[in-house]
Amino acid sequence: APVAAVIPAAGRGVRLGPGAPKALRTLGGTPMLIHAVRALAASRAVRLVVVVAPPEGTTEVKSLLDAHALPERTDILVVPGGSSRQESVRLGLQALPPGHDIVLVHDAARPLVPVDTVDAVIEAVRAGAPAVVPALPLADTVKQVEPAAAPGEPEPVVATPDRSLLRAVQTPQGFDRATLVRAHETVTTDVTDDASMVEQLGERVVTVPGHEEAFKVTRPLDLVLAEAVLARRRL
Ligand code: C5P
Repeated sequence: APVAAVIPAAGRGVRLGPGAPKALRTLGGTPMLIHAVRALAASRAVRLVVVVAPPEGTTEVKSLLDAHALPERTDILVVPGGSSRQESVRLGLQALPPGHDIVLVHDAARPLVPVDTVDAVIEAVRAGAPAVVPALPLADTVKQVEPAAAPGEPEPVVATPDRSLLRAVQTPQGFDRATLVRAHETVTTDVTDDASMVEQLGERVVTVPGHEEAFKVTRPLDLVLAEAVLARRRL
């Protein structure tokens, strides 16, 4: 069955510092969004990519996509995004034509995800999981804190969850399409990933191994790392 991918790329990228919307910043001279589209289109199963662009930037994003080579087999749609990632994904889902029973959701901010990770996610959905997330163990110990009593005051630590049971999750996350659509129609609480909406439906979410090169470009140091990974690939 053909697979569609939704790439939310409508974020400002404030944590990266001043400049263009994050997805349009370049890595190795190529916009991060183009890297992300190519990374998903590298999977032979992916036949359609829906790019969710900044509302004021759809024309610019369309011409960028036209100007960069993509596999012949891949169709591209560009739709305007919303004020949160969640809303942007929902708008992307609404633009999906019939016929794609598996949907991947992938952050434009993870431009370097290897195709093997994309394929592993697709395989696990094909094997019957309604939702699949690439996941990695944590290097750092994680603390749960309480909000500080006042700004500038220390945050009291209240718990240290068992690190061996925690995972950092990445994208693309893969879904049975009907399940993901139902999740976006039903769940109205704020979430930071799509799988958590499926969890709220009570559906099973499973992990596959993530990849360190699927990291999210969020802060300035991540740009340094992304440039280094690209340079190493070009050796
Ligand atoms: O801000 P964060 O790094 O979590 O954003 C993850 C992804 O969601 C990025 O690719 C960003 O462009 C996208 N996003 C969006 N619409 C928003 C906010 C974020 O498409 N309103």
